[in-house]
Amino acid sequence: MASDKIAPPTRPLGPTDIHVTPIGLGTWQFSQNILSGAGNWGSLSPDDINAIVQAAVDGGVNWFDTAEIYGFGRSERNLARALRAAGVQPGEVVIATKWWPILRFAGSIPRTIGKRIKNLAPYPIDLHQVHWPYALSSIESIMDRMAELVQAGKVKAVGVSNYNAEQMRRAHACLAQHGIPLTSNQVKYNLLDRRIEANGVLETAQELGITIIAYSPLEMGLLTGKFHQKPELLNSRPRRRRGKLKARLEITRPLIDRMAELAEKYDATVTQIGLNWLIHAYGDRVIAIPGATKPHHAADAARAMNFVLSLDEIEELHAIARALTGYKPISN
Ligand SMILES: NC(=O)c1ccc[n+]([C@@H]2O[C@H](COP(=O)([O-])OP(=O)(O)OC[C@H]3O[C@@H](n4cnc5c(N)ncnc54)[C@H](OP(=O)(O)O)[C@@H]3O)[C@@H](O)[C@H]2O)c1
Repeated sequence: MASDKIAPPTRPLGPTDIHVTPIGLGTWQFSQNILSGAGNWGSLSPDDINAIVQAAVDGGVNWFDTAEIYGFGRSERNLARALRAAGVQPGEVVIATKWWPILRFAGSIPRTIGKRIKNLAPYPIDLHQVHWPYALSSIESIMDRMAELVQAGKVKAVGVSNYNAEQMRRAHACLAQHGIPLTSNQVKYNLLDRRIEANGVLETAQELGITIIAYSPLEMGLLTGKFHQKPELLNSRPRRRRGKLKARLEITRPLIDRMAELAEKYDATVTQIGLNWLIHAYGDRVIAIPGATKPHHAADAARAMNFVLSLDEIEELHAIARALTGYKPISN
């Protein structure tokens, strides 16, 4: 991964010595028309995926988030192939994946880790996350199995996703008995969806030293401003997402207009303003994993690490967005 460029500053992932750039790359889009990937993103070719990962690496992004459920392992395999194609050596990037808990017992964690390791080879798994809090086993049983993976050297750290404040505390307490920290909670968070500021998740993360990994940080494309500028673009987007985005264009326009003014000031894009807000509004606590279906999406997102909005601007965007939506998403 040789480069002359200055690397963006990194942040520790929770209380670990794993260091990540504030912007990573989400790879649900690499599911290739399988499961929910199809209704939301369509299908990318291997060449498309290689080019997206190359653009992220070139932009200084040093970590990637995938999951077992994204295309039943396709996203993991596509990511590993693309990193190899980009000449990235094992250990040069941070890899996060997730175990799928729904309708499963904790015993499936040790049974499925081999597949995760094989799919992602030769890149080691830095962070293994529990995708949702819904499983057939208790949080405690799940955390015991996850701790065993760390003790066996199969993964470096443990995170959760979509956990509420109380569930975070239970996971944290159980891991602590094994001498292992809870590293992160991956949740939906962006300017238009502020639930974690009101439901105790952000506060608990701050108290326990847990990193918040913001997923859908661009509200599935709405916060890029491109659909406000050219609503006809929505016609080419997969059906499931099109309806959701169309219904929210007008109500969100005042926010996008202000973001566009700030973008001009910083020689940036609306996308970069939204991501910059996320990674600076709460110090180092929040990092983001925008998804991409084109190389220029990944390059654009990486450039959100090149400037810092002023505190007044962060507060102003906060106020405009909250006046539009309250803490809740406009609709789900
Ligand atoms: N843990 C969980 O339960 C969970 C749930 C959802 C997502 N995630 C993770 O979070 C990642 C990101 O979330 P997400 O994919 O839902 O939504 P997102 O990052 O908010 O939006 C991604 C979409 O926004 C558009 N976009 C991105 N960058 C752009 C740019 N610079 N310029 C113009 N358009 C741009 C693209 O839309 P088009 O493709 O239409 O152009 C892209 O596919 C996923 O890949 C996944 O890894 C996790």
